[in-house]
Amino acid sequence: MSSMIRIEDLSKVYDTGAVQVHALRNVSLSIEKGDFVAIMGQSGSGKSTLMNIIGCLDRPTKGLYQLDGMTISEMESSELSSIRNKKIGFVFQSFNLIPRTSSLKNVELPMIYAKIGKKERRERAIELLEKVGLGERLHHMPNEISGGQKQRIAIARALANKPAIILADEPTGNLDTSSSEEIMNIFTELNKEGATVIVVTHEDSIAEYTKRIIRFRDGQMIEDRRREAE
Ligand SMILES: Nc1ncnc2c1ncn2[C@@H]1O[C@H](COP(=O)(O)OP(=O)(O)OP(=O)(O)O)[C@@H](O)[C@H]1O
Ligand SMILES: [Mg+2]
Repeated sequence: MSSMIRIEDLSKVYDTGAVQVHALRNVSLSIEKGDFVAIMGQSGSGKSTLMNIIGCLDRPTKGLYQLDGMTISEMESSELSSIRNKKIGFVFQSFNLIPRTSSLKNVELPMIYAKIGKKERRERAIELLEKVGLGERLHHMPNEISGGQKQRIAIARALANKPAIILADEPTGNLDTSSSEEIMNIFTELNKEGATVIVVTHEDSIAEYTKRIIRFRDGQMIEDRRREAE
């Protein structure tokens, strides 16, 4: 069986003119469909760089990246964006909601880009907001709700186009403990329903929700550990 994500001998060098930054060095890893992975490691160790490559936002300098059997590392950026829209749901530390735009519209937006009809996208946005427990906040603006609620809207938005993979880069970095727990419970539920979830975190208490912990140091993978089932 082929893996959903297959990365082999992958490197990323940022060329900033004066210096070259080796953000990822010869990384090899596979992630199967339905896995729930925490990516950990110090600041600057390459976590976001890896997420951006897995999420088809950026390309490696060298090495192989295959997603669902497609060789992403050889694709043009126009092809990358179409794969990204179909397969990837992103959640960011800073929520990235559109200001002065209702919860409902924020969640509908990716479906507008995907040319889904008005009725269907409205229904699906309501369904997703109910799923994350915000059925009562459909018409609130981002500045009228809490950080935890903003992140739940961002998760609903990430799910809009039914992505196979959810990538979350420090999704609880700006949240208090109880909101963080709510967010991780939602990811756990989505994973139980079959989604592949990858979460970057600095916190052990967040990594404990996942099934597998991958740790980076200076652009190299130094640990890949499956957590014992409790
Ligand atoms: N666009 C860029 N141009 C140049 N260097 C970059 C760029 N993005 C990241 N880097 C560098 O690449 C290295 C890895 O950065 P990355 O953002 O992947 O780290 P990280 O593990 O996500 O860190 P953090 O925990 O602080 O988010 C760092 O040295 C960083 O300064
Ligand atoms: Mg980062």
